[in-house]
Amino acid sequence: MQMFRKIGDEVVLVYNPRREKVEVGENIKIIDEKEGRGLLVQVIEQNLVDLTGILEDIIRIESMERMSFEEHAPPEYGKYTFDVKNMKFARAKIRKELRVSDQVEEIVDWTGWVPDRSAKVEPIDDSWILDKLKIGKKFYKYPIFLGNTAHNKKDLVISAHNLQGISIIVGKKGTGKSHLAKALLLGLIDNGAMGLVFDINDEYSALRYNTDGTESRYSDKIITLEPGVNLRFTLQYIGSDVFFDVIQTAMGLPEASAFELRNIWEELEKNGQLTFRNLRQQAKNTLDRRILGAIIRRLDRMAQTKLFTDNPQEATELEKEFEKIRSGGALVINLKLKSKDTIDLVVQTVLSKLQEILEKGGRPVFIFAEEAHFYLRETDWADAVTRMRHLGTYQIYMTNTPTEIRELVIRQADNLFLFHLTEESDLTHVSPAAKIDPETIIQVAKALPSRRCLMVGEVTNHYPFIIDVKSLDVKVAGATRKYFKVP
Ligand SMILES: Nc1ncnc2c1ncn2[C@@H]1O[C@H](COP(=O)(O)OP(=O)(O)OP(=O)(O)O)[C@@H](O)[C@H]1O
Ligand SMILES: [Mg+2]
Repeated sequence: MQMFRKIGDEVVLVYNPRREKVEVGENIKIIDEKEGRGLLVQVIEQNLVDLTGILEDIIRIESMERMSFEEHAPPEYGKYTFDVKNMKFARAKIRKELRVSDQVEEIVDWTGWVPDRSAKVEPIDDSWILDKLKIGKKFYKYPIFLGNTAHNKKDLVISAHNLQGISIIVGKKGTGKSHLAKALLLGLIDNGAMGLVFDINDEYSALRYNTDGTESRYSDKIITLEPGVNLRFTLQYIGSDVFFDVIQTAMGLPEASAFELRNIWEELEKNGQLTFRNLRQQAKNTLDRRILGAIIRRLDRMAQTKLFTDNPQEATELEKEFEKIRSGGALVINLKLKSKDTIDLVVQTVLSKLQEILEKGGRPVFIFAEEAHFYLRETDWADAVTRMRHLGTYQIYMTNTPTEIRELVIRQADNLFLFHLTEESDLTHVSPAAKIDPETIIQVAKALPSRRCLMVGEVTNHYPFIIDVKSLDVKVAGATRKYFKVP
């Protein structure tokens, strides 16, 4: 393998595929031994060498198909032309510079230096680079094993510490996003952290079981909350701030009507009579017909979701649920087949309440949000990203429509897990999250098979790695149910 040229922050390596194999994502060293310096580059694309001479040759042979001709050349020449025609090049990004002194190699940021063409080019083992970047089990107090590097099959272990920010998992349908999210969640639980999952496909509760149906080691660490069944709130508990935030924003109640309703709320609260039923009744008894309709319609829609109850025995307190998973666990809120109203109401009530809990000094929580654009409004994104993050909610967003993720979130993302994705617009939208060159994202995302992802960010010390995500030893529901089955 040889370095052919450098363009910007890329080098082009030429190699003979009959002798050497190169893969996208592979790390390569280019060492100038005399100078004691080198480059660490990573392959982002491979291609055939496109030289005018080769093209002419191919066209000549194709057009002479029906003619017979004899070529008199020594056999080595034949082999040589064959090799030339099949030479490949690998486009590789310069990631780091290497300084070698007394046989010890040290990784530093690239200074713009390039070796000459005589430099030695050699593939490197991923464990070498993981060690240099101080990534791996031996470096971490809170390790989470996620899978193996794609080409060298080395363990990729991240630190739960580095998930304390915003992480984004994107990729086409069925590429393995939720599976990775589950691996992250279980890893966090193993390290004693608490999670909260907005589960729109009802696929996280299954983690309570092993593949053979018996209870898994997470059986009492994963608590499923069903809105309207074991997730119900009293008005007293959610409080007026949360209630009015929700009725005004999720339900669209105009300010003037909300003002009237708030007066009734306060009156009832003062007399110790605050219940959903009393609120509705009192509104009916006292309010003007012009605004009454708007209020009653919204209250009835809220009642239909069964999220509110006047019976304290039936009511949920999130603090108590979190208490049950103090030593690590997750609250999974099942939103499958719920109406849009229910989903909006649940998400907003839970997020507002969570914010209140954290403001009072509650313990940080990792929020897992699948397809969050279905239920997060503009203000929720802003809140979640800035205020709630500050308070200690860390967020993991998963989606197959990355353009729906707000730019604000992308720009503040700490980690990106990228599965197969081909749309140019999706790729350019998410690439700022990676804080590396956009070409890497664009080229690599197209070349990823299912269950393989590119990960970059705090978790990888900002060096992109391509990994095959590990399988899980517990049950994973999730694949879409199909009527026609493969025999
Ligand atoms: N690393 C893996 N090892 C074993 N099975 C996997 C792995 N990754 C994904 N799967 C399986 O492949 C299927 C699709 O994965 P998953 O549900 O995670 O995809 P997804 O990207 O979340 O899809 P969607 O966009 O539909 O939500 C699931 O049945 C899952 O269990
Ligand atoms: Mg999924």
